[in-house]
Amino acid sequence: MIIDGKKEAQILREEIKKEIITIKNKTNKVPGLTVILIGDFVPSQIYVRNKEKNSKEVGINSNVIRYSKDVTEDEVLKKIQELNNNKEVSGILVQLPLPQQINKEKIINSIDPAKDVDGFHPVNVGNLASGYNAIVPCTPLGCLLLLKKIETNLSGKHAVIVGRSNLNGKPMAQLLLKENCTVTITHSKTKNLKEECLKADILIVAVGVANLVKKDWVKKGSIVVDIGINKLGDKIVGDVSFEEVKDIASSITPVPGGVGPMTIACLLKNTLNCFKKLN
Ligand code: GUN
Repeated sequence: MIIDGKKEAQILREEIKKEIITIKNKTNKVPGLTVILIGDFVPSQIYVRNKEKNSKEVGINSNVIRYSKDVTEDEVLKKIQELNNNKEVSGILVQLPLPQQINKEKIINSIDPAKDVDGFHPVNVGNLASGYNAIVPCTPLGCLLLLKKIETNLSGKHAVIVGRSNLNGKPMAQLLLKENCTVTITHSKTKNLKEECLKADILIVAVGVANLVKKDWVKKGSIVVDIGINKLGDKIVGDVSFEEVKDIASSITPVPGGVGPMTIACLLKNTLNCFKKLN
């Protein structure tokens, strides 16, 4: 089965839209999302444009603040303070990557954890790792929602995650642990990566290497979730060699149209949840 992330994201967006209409009718308020975009990195421009469009479609008051690539760290920190104090703003997202004069850690730490819709602030990372209420990073959250649609009982399943980033691999592992999966995290220094992948009931790949995972890396009947978005010639492909793996896996997410749309839908969900907690 090919997992239709586009359809699932649309269902989620419809739910969010309805809830925002209800809130607006009752309170005359709507959630606000402010995105800070620094520089002219083309993929970031595309992601941010999509986030803005999707936010507006569900009734979120979306605002993008753009800076040139040579903006100072102080100027950005000052803006974040202003947004932290602004009651109209429910969510703040600073699009990554950042130019080298700007310290990513400082920027993430300066965002009010209650408005950290990316779930990157150490308070949210720590809450997630502790199994407490946390804002969860959008891509792993989207993957979990897709997994739950096709597998109601994740308990005891062996999940193998390829990639250990703060954005994807690490929070994905925390979420699956919470679902009582047995979790293996692998990465670029893992020995026998193929053999580790072959043990997976659920294989999640987030490394940014086009078509890394081949058909002989995947156990028959496993679920494969591909987080990769890579440009190969004029095509967008994932980290999994889709055409050859789709006949081995029981379910697989395509790229595009798999995890990607769910990431943005989960950003809208996180923004709505922040609004509800703050109001
Ligand atoms: N750059 C690529 N993915 C992301 C994301 O999920 N959040 C932010 N802030 N930047 C990104």
